[in-house]
Amino acid sequence: MDPHTHTVFAGNRVAEFLARARGEKYTGGGILTTVQATRAASEEELVRLAKPRLLRMLGQGVTTVEVKSGYGLAPADELKMLRAVRRLGEELPLTLVPTFMGAHALPPEAPREEYVRLLVEEMIPAVAREGLARFCDVFCDRGFYTVAEARTILLAARRWGLGLKIHADELAYVGAAELAGELFAASAEHLLHISEEGIRALARAGTVAVLLPGTAFVLDEPYPPARRLIEAGVPVALGTDFNPGSCPLASLPFVMSLGVLKLRMSPEEVLTAVTLNAAAALGLAEELGSIEVGKRADLVIWDAETFAEIPYWMGQNLAWAVVKGGRIVLGPGGPRWPV
Ligand code: NIG
Ligand code: FE
Repeated sequence: MDPHTHTVFAGNRVAEFLARARGEKYTGGGILTTVQATRAASEEELVRLAKPRLLRMLGQGVTTVEVKSGYGLAPADELKMLRAVRRLGEELPLTLVPTFMGAHALPPEAPREEYVRLLVEEMIPAVAREGLARFCDVFCDRGFYTVAEARTILLAARRWGLGLKIHADELAYVGAAELAGELFAASAEHLLHISEEGIRALARAGTVAVLLPGTAFVLDEPYPPARRLIEAGVPVALGTDFNPGSCPLASLPFVMSLGVLKLRMSPEEVLTAVTLNAAAALGLAEELGSIEVGKRADLVIWDAETFAEIPYWMGQNLAWAVVKGGRIVLGPGGPRWPV
């Protein structure tokens, strides 16, 4: 289960990737390049582009994927992204969990107070009325939304019945994890620069820490403090953060390898992080995330003797068969859907 992705987008950022390889630092400014391409694409085009990405995830044993909007930054384009997610969920044997992230960046054309007002008064209500998202996420970080703005946006989302998530303290410490605790958010994500107080706030609120070591790997940044979070009693989940800028890496098994090698998590902690804790981050722990009577049968059969081999055989795909809701959707010999 991948609890944090930005899988729906148009265009690519190869030029930015190469610039970073030459030593340029990631600031998040490239998000607007993807916004331009995504605004120019139709809903059908977004579906067509995202489908093979999701099928590659399924092929690696991922049966539930959270997908954030946030490359539209205008009412029509954000709704278009979320409708694309809904269509993908109807057409593929995957559970997709849609998150509204209109507060992913500031649109170039609108003053910030005006855009925050648009989010609160127009976009969140429109998303909620159409039932297009389960969560609302805000990029609360240096150069993006302040803690005060994030609070305003998330409180509006809560009034409209959406669950809360925060992209927190990824680029710099701003106190976003503390806000996640204050609001009893479902999850706080990234957390590369979380403070000790932030860790305590998440533990107190039972907020899940969704860690995305693929992003630290790609950006060559220090990894988030998984051990300190676990020791403080914070449930830790792992996701890819798949997106065209800071993390073009879509392989959850590779992220599991980083979990063991870089976050110093045990294979058992990694297993929990991509199953039950990921389900908790998505509000799905009652129906998915563990093999129990009464839950849906989403299973992966691995070509491995022990679970530790999955992170150990790095960059390889050991998924041998995938069962979604009790039906074999992928097995030796290829895809098997619809059945
Ligand atoms: O999760 N942090 C903000 N958003 C993405 C990056 C998106 C992009 O660069 O396009 C992230 O890292
Ligand atoms: Fe992200």
